[in-house]
Amino acid sequence: MTAAKPWKTLDDMELAGKVVLTRVDINVPMDAGRVTDMTRIERILPTVRDILAAGGKPVLLAHFGRPKGEVRADMSLGLIRDALEGALGSPVKFAANCIGADAKHGVADLADGETLLLENTRFHAEETKNDAMFAASLAALGDIYCNDAFSAAHRAHASTEAIARLLPACAGRLMQAELSALEGALGAPERPVVAVVGGAKVSTKLDLLGNLVGKADHLIIGGGMANTFLAAQGVSVGKSLCEHDLADTARDILAKAEAAGCEIILPRDITVAREFAANAAHEIVAVDACPDDAMILDVGSETNAYLAEVIKGAKTLIMNGPLGVFEMEPFQTGTFAMLDVIAAQTDADALVSVAGGGDTVAAINAAGKADNFSYISTAGGAFLEWMEGKTLPGVAALA
Ligand code: 3PG
Ligand code: MG
Repeated sequence: MTAAKPWKTLDDMELAGKVVLTRVDINVPMDAGRVTDMTRIERILPTVRDILAAGGKPVLLAHFGRPKGEVRADMSLGLIRDALEGALGSPVKFAANCIGADAKHGVADLADGETLLLENTRFHAEETKNDAMFAASLAALGDIYCNDAFSAAHRAHASTEAIARLLPACAGRLMQAELSALEGALGAPERPVVAVVGGAKVSTKLDLLGNLVGKADHLIIGGGMANTFLAAQGVSVGKSLCEHDLADTARDILAKAEAAGCEIILPRDITVAREFAANAAHEIVAVDACPDDAMILDVGSETNAYLAEVIKGAKTLIMNGPLGVFEMEPFQTGTFAMLDVIAAQTDADALVSVAGGGDTVAAINAAGKADNFSYISTAGGAFLEWMEGKTLPGVAALA
């Protein structure tokens, strides 16, 4: 039996006739006035539709970019209104300020079946300060607070944290989905658990590695950070990206993993090149044979064979970071080969696979495997902080 969640959901609230202030994350990428990735907009639709279906009035609170308390035309949520309305398939009104007369009139004029989008909360400097007065001005607009912005839950801001204490509060559908996927991956997972962590630097992922060695049975380390671990073990990495000053830290993590019974998996063979460029001349060599004038840009096939074996023996996998320089041909080979195995195991119902983070999701999309994962988080920073074992203020405030 699963323990009761400490937060309420939309099912626990009386929504009919109520103004539901709903914090969403529609911080989407745009190019030339067009939304280039609709994922975050699509993922909030179930919440908005459920509120509408129950006779509630959704009033959306959101940030867009980092305007730092200034009104910036290029960061107006008005730019997103059309895309949101098109995706939702019902009217979306827009208020040019998230507090004050514009917001109040927008709410008062809202008809049944309509949704109101309020202007960027970060046009007010008080938002990112988690200011109590600003939160009270937001709260005054509605009857219920619903947080559906897991991907902004690592921020203790007025619209994610302070407001949750001022109104009856609940989690939206996407928030519920994110939390249950992550709970299934690291909270109470089926074992063995494999964690894949990649990225350029160990220094940005220290807390993550520290938490994962206590939770995962196998920890695959890829990308530039693997070089730091190899160098810490006395392996020469040539001209590769490497944080030599973190050798002690890397050895500490290796020792902690050994004590916890977590297998750290580093490359066994490597793809090296003399140039950091697409289609640079390259070769696969043993891990301890990186030439002095070369750099490691991907794992090799022997590594991939071993990763496949480990992943095939696992029940749960959580991924944050690619193995190599997947943006550059042909150094995506190792990452894509691993993604093939993850996808096949997931499709066969042998593996629960969860991934998050901008680079990770980009690699999965580039490999065409987005539909083969059990769950792909909409979050970057929040996913990472959750994997680090940190409390997310936006989630904690719902309890
Ligand atoms: C994101 O895009 O990661 C979230 O919307 C949070 O944005 P922030 O990093 O500017 O707080
Ligand atoms: Mg971010």
